[in-house]
Amino acid sequence: MVQSTGNKKVKCAVFISGTGSNLKSLIKFSKKKNSPISIELIISDNSKANGLKFGKIFKISNHVFNYKNKISAEKKIIYEIKKNKIKIICLAGFMKILSKDFIKSFKGKILNIHPSLLPKYKGLNTHERAISNNEKYSGCTVHFVNSKLDSGKIILQKKVRIIKGDTAKSLAKRVLTHEHKLYPKAISKIVSL
Ligand code: GAR
Repeated sequence: MVQSTGNKKVKCAVFISGTGSNLKSLIKFSKKKNSPISIELIISDNSKANGLKFGKIFKISNHVFNYKNKISAEKKIIYEIKKNKIKIICLAGFMKILSKDFIKSFKGKILNIHPSLLPKYKGLNTHERAISNNEKYSGCTVHFVNSKLDSGKIILQKKVRIIKGDTAKSLAKRVLTHEHKLYPKAISKIVSL
């Protein structure tokens, strides 16, 4: 549980690599009157990430770091996080793996959303694999990040039925609409004003 001090909203950073639809839903959530969070920082490893436009639209500070040199990128990210007094990091379609040291220094403060019913289908191409294994359900999971890929403690999960004729694309699109509701719910579960 992350508690705010003096009834102020808990400051969050959101890390993205692409479209940023989860970022957009988190920004909308943060703008609600009773939301426990404010989004102060958007971090990306990709200067072409479409989601960066939400930084401009909502006037949230954006930073792009080149992950070719992970150690140097993470050093700069830590500097921004400390400067902005960030208490929670939300990974939202961030496709780089954070170093063990980075994760250790923000233990219990990094959340991720993953498009599967973890512990099933860690890693990439989750929907393709669920469909080809004839699963009845796919879904999404919000979990704490630990040093093993997609393996930290689960906060919330939503099952989404796989329907006949689903492709990875149609399923991903449907699951994404549930991700947009699940992430704010999971944050509300672990952050209190
Ligand atoms: C989402 O489906 C998210 O769960 C997934 O990437 C997509 C990002 O979409 N994350 C992962 O696969 C992480 N392993 P968005 O950029 O529109 O939020």
